[in-house]
Parts: sequence; C-alpha cells; structure tokens
Amino acid sequence: MPRRIPGLVVASLALLATSSLEVQVPLLSSEPTPAIRGPLIEVGAGQWNLSVGPEPDSTSHLVFDTVASLLQRWPNTRYRNGHNVVPGIIPVGTLIYHGRETQEIPNGPEWVAMDPELSRGFCVGFGESGCWHLTFVSTRPLKVLYFDGSSGAKMAGGSLDTQDYVAWNKSHPEWVLNERKRIADLCHWGKKYNLDGLFRYVHLFFSEIMVCDFTSGVQLVSSIQLNPESEPWFRSGDIPPTPTRGYVPPQSSLWLEYKMVEAGTWYHFYPGEGRVKLDLTRLISFYDTDMFPSLIPLRSGLDRLQHRVAGISDRDVQQFHQRLDEVLQDYHSSESSSFTSGSVDWRTLYQVTRDRYADRLQILQYILSATDPTAENYSKNHTQTASNAMYRLQLMLTTYALQTARPPTLDTGVDKDLSWASPVYQYCATTHTSALYPFKASFTKSEHLLLSALEGTNREICRVIVRLWAEGIEAGVDPGLPLWPIGRGDGNVTDEYWLPMLKHWKNDVEGLMSWLEWSIWLKCRPTCDMEEICYMPTWPWFKNTPWPTFDSAPRAKGSLAPGLGDPDEEEWRNPLPRCIRRMEPFDWRNP
Ligand SMILES: *[C@@H]1O[C@H](CO)[C@@H](O)[C@H](O)[C@H]1NC(C)=O
Ligand SMILES: *[C@@H]1O[C@H](CO)[C@@H](O)[C@H](O)[C@H]1NC(C)=O
Ligand SMILES: *[C@@H]1O[C@H](CO)[C@@H](O)[C@H](O)[C@H]1NC(C)=O
Ligand SMILES: *[C@@H]1O[C@H](CO)[C@@H](O)[C@H](O)[C@H]1NC(C)=O
Ligand SMILES: *[C@@H]1O[C@H](CO)[C@@H](O)[C@H](O)[C@H]1NC(C)=O
Repeated sequence: MPRRIPGLVVASLALLATSSLEVQVPLLSSEPTPAIRGPLIEVGAGQWNLSVGPEPDSTSHLVFDTVASLLQRWPNTRYRNGHNVVPGIIPVGTLIYHGRETQEIPNGPEWVAMDPELSRGFCVGFGESGCWHLTFVSTRPLKVLYFDGSSGAKMAGGSLDTQDYVAWNKSHPEWVLNERKRIADLCHWGKKYNLDGLFRYVHLFFSEIMVCDFTSGVQLVSSIQLNPESEPWFRSGDIPPTPTRGYVPPQSSLWLEYKMVEAGTWYHFYPGEGRVKLDLTRLISFYDTDMFPSLIPLRSGLDRLQHRVAGISDRDVQQFHQRLDEVLQDYHSSESSSFTSGSVDWRTLYQVTRDRYADRLQILQYILSATDPTAENYSKNHTQTASNAMYRLQLMLTTYALQTARPPTLDTGVDKDLSWASPVYQYCATTHTSALYPFKASFTKSEHLLLSALEGTNREICRVIVRLWAEGIEAGVDPGLPLWPIGRGDGNVTDEYWLPMLKHWKNDVEGLMSWLEWSIWLKCRPTCDMEEICYMPTWPWFKNTPWPTFDSAPRAKGSLAPGLGDPDEEEWRNPLPRCIRRMEPFDWRNP
C-alpha cells in the first residue's frame, strides 16, 4: 500500500470533523500541515508530553474498569466493593424465580433470582413441606436500581456500602446480616421513584432482584412443588430404604451448591447478565472525584481491593441523594433503553476499547518477560525479543502512525522527550472520542464522566505504547529494516545491547497493566482441566471455610469476613482465581 494513504485519510477525517465541529472547537494550528490539519491534532501542545503520566489521584482507569465490567460476574467477584449505582429496566416478559416453603405469593418485599438454579437453592432443607418454586413473569418493564460489586454478599468490608448510603445515609456494619431490614428500607425509600426493585449481584453465582411489590408489574406463571433435592427418587409405594437396607445418604451437599457456581460461570464476562438494561446516561460513580471529593484522601495509598464508600462526608452523601433524585425522578420504565432516546452506546464503546488492548498488552507483556531469567520464556536472544516486542507495538499503532511523524536527523542529537512522536500519541488518544464532542452539549453529567474516563484511560495506554514505539524507532528496532542502532555506525551490536531498554519496556508495560487492573487478565494458569472450573474465591467459600449448607450459610464462618490470622484471610484480602473440581469428589479448596 502506498505510504501516502494514511496521511490522506487523516486529512479527510480532519476535514469532515472541521465542518461539523467548527462551532465548538477552535482551529488550533495557524500553519496546518496537510496530514495533521484540523481539530484532531493540536501540534506541539504541551499536554501531549510522552513523559507525563496521569495524576496520582486520577480515577479514569477505575471508572473505566468498573463501567466496562458492569453486569459481569468475574470482575465484580474480585472487586466486591461496588462503586456504581445505575438505574435500569428489566424488560417485559422476563422470567424471575422464587423458592419458598409455601405456595403463596409473597405479600411483602422478597428476593427473586434470574436463574432457577439459584432460587431452587433456597428451598433445600425445608423438610416435609418440600420446596415451592414460584415462577413470575414481568408484565411491564420493571424499573430497578443496580448496585455493582458483590452487592449481595453478606460480607463486612464494603460490599454493602452503596446500599447503606441509599437506605440509611451511613454505613451500618452491624446490619450486614440484617437483610430483612435492608430490603424493607430500600423498598420504602424507592417508593417515591416507583422503583419496582433493586438489582444485586451475589458475587460469583447469580443475580438477584429485591422485588418490592408482587402485586404490581409481575404475574405468577407457576407455583410448583419440587422434590427436595436431598431426597432420592423412590417408586410410589416403595418404603424408603434405610441405611440398614443399603441406602447411604449423600455425604456432602456440595453437588447442590455446585449448580449455582456453574450457573454463575455463564455470566462471567462481557456481555454478562443481559436481562437488565442499564441506562448509563444516569450512572452514578463513587469514583467521580468532582461529585465525591471526600473519598479521594480515603483511597490514598490503598490497594483498589480496599477502596470503599464508607467514610464519605455528609456533604457528599447529600450530593449522592441529590443526584439519585435527578436520575430517578424522571426515569420511566417505558423507556425501554437509553439507546432509543438517542444516546451514545457507552457500554459498547467501553468494551471496544478494552477489546482493542486487552489481548495485545498481554502478549506484549509475555514477550517482554523473555528478558527475565526466572521466566518460563526466558531467552538470551534479546535481539529477537526486541524485534518481537517492536512488531507488537507497531501492530497497535499502525492506525495512528502519521506519515509526518519522523525522528529528527541524527545530527540534531537525541530527543529525550521524543516530542516528534507527540502527534501520534495525540491522534491515538483522541481519535476514538473526539468525534463525540459535537454531542457534548446534550450529555448528562454521567456521560461527561464516562467520556472523560474513557479519554483518560485511552490516553495513558497510548502514551505508554507510543513512547516505547518511539524509543524503539530511535534505537533502530524497525521490523521493516535490518537492526541498525542509532549511533552504532557499523550496526554490530551484541544481544546485551538491547537489555536495558527491554527491561524498562517490561516495567512500563507492567506498570500500565497494573494501573489498568483489568480482571480479564486474571485467569487460571495453567488452565483448568476438563474436571475443573476456574473459580474466583469469595464468600462463603474460601479455601478453608467449610462449604456451608444453605440454611447455615448466612451464619457460616466467613459470612462477615475472616479475622486477622484466619487461614482464609489471605484469599479474602486478595482473591485470585484457582481451579476447583466440578466432578466428584467436589472440592472448593485446591484440587
Ligand atoms: C515533558 O515532561 C518532562 C517531565 O516532566 C519535562 O522534563 C520536559 O521538559 C517536558 N517537555 C516538554 C516539551 O514540555
Ligand atoms: C439521607 O439524606 C437525604 C439528603 O440529605 C435525605 O433526603 C434523606 O431523608 C436521608 N435519609 C435518611 C434515612 O436519613
Ligand atoms: C514461550 O514458551 C513456550 C513453551 O514454554 C514456547 O512454545 C513459545 O514459543 C515461547 N515463546 C516465546 C516468544 O519465546
Ligand atoms: C537471535 O534472533 C535473531 C532474529 O531471529 C537471529 O537472526 C539470530 O541468529 C539469533 N541469535 C542467536 C544467537 O540465536
Ligand atoms: C563485531 O564486533 C565484534 C566484537 O566487538 C568483532 O569481533 C567483529 O569483528 C565485529 N564484526 C563486524 C562485522 O564488524
């Protein structure tokens, strides 16, 4: 392909953008060069300095990752302290399930599941009366409020914070297990907004709705008595066998619980739970530093797993309620989704960005790990590693590498800031969002946050990869050319020559990845075999906690939080995935 093409495309994009943007965006360069004309590229702007990363208090990456992870179980199991509250709709015709000991329709608020595998679990062990399994269907769109994180996990430590501040304006750790009070107060609060329910994730395995009123918006489809799960099937008229006649009751009830773990794996990753349609134009994020500045110092120095909402100032709680009022007051369940009202599809836009880099950064990190003598892929051929890494960087940047961005000639000396590559950085960082600027006037507060978080995240990714790429070019690692290091006239260098640069690349890529903290990168390694599934440890099943039976679950050890020195403490503080068995003998510890 002729080398001129990229420049032409940029030029025509810029022209297009100029015509529609002229009201909002000033033309920046008085002497435009053909390939970088227009508002897309501000040549020489100091803010595109490749040496300057994000502010330490920036939360772009946190807004980005939590929003990109909405409704997906895997990330919300690891980062269980939710930071987003989002209004949503459950469309008409959605089935919801409720297990109980009687066949009556509940006359007050109750918990229902989106998957029968879960609600079934709630009628285990009710003895003679068996299990009444009620199925309902929504008869109109239901208006719900979604709490992200493991918002249904009865755990101390922050997973219930956002609900506490909705219901009580205060964190109430002593009510962690007081689910009755929680549902009553949340439903009472939601009345003024005609909320039909509250939507939560009970970490690993299921979504749950706290339905406020079973006489409105839902209709009973069936009320069926199911065989108690722990009871074997006998032929009618058979006398149930007794242990003396050879019948051995199941030794563990693990297989009962396994079905819930399994159902959860269906929604681990994007798009996750599809049965609720969130309206991101009304999203409230506690990582919004303009709205909730009091949380900034509370997070300082803490690991992301420890971030929580408890401790927020009274003024910020007021802001929260004011914003809740704004987003819920005029939100009608007849708006089946925000898209029909013409808003940007933020969820997809975020996902596209994550797709664009998740795999590519991971393979780059893998390639660079070849410089580490302890790595599985250690290679002494650093020349090869440099060339592999540069190839990956070029792949990521091929759509942003402007023809006009060239390193200065050798006699001008080394450009430490690599400022010749700034236009590539800027183009990479803005091309996916600048086209949205004309719509800014109609954005909600939430959308301004979404746009700036997306830009902040994209910008840092671009900064790091453009910097490494530019260094590679300066160093002479261009896969299209023979290796020809700058300043080494004879081109005769040893493998060792590349090592310092590669080590610093490795650090930078790892630094970027730990800033982004995408849970999609947390996988079981080596991958689990056919008899196992990859499990993200969480309440109530940590490594050492006995797998509880359901009627003891809420009181089981680990339901609040493992204590200091508890063998489960480490997994509780930093849950990392591991394989567990999915066939007999079941085991939630290590296989
Ligand atoms: C870029 O940032 C670095 C580090 O803060 C600074 O030393 C350098 O002068 C800046 N370069 C430009 C062109 O502003
Ligand atoms: C919480 O705060 C909001 C706003 O300040 C107020 O309207 C509401 O009544 C408070 N709720 C409770 C339970 O105190
Ligand atoms: C990494 O190691 C695996 C085997 O451990 C090998 O198949 C692969 O080619 C290596 N890749 C690189 C880039 O060295
Ligand atoms: C290192 O890799 C390069 C590029 O593939 C290759 O040409 C060279 O022979 C390798 N060097 C050694 C010592 O294997
Ligand atoms: C490359 O450098 C080595 C060691 O410095 C030297 O022995 C060799 O002759 C050089 N090769 C060329 C082609 O200059």
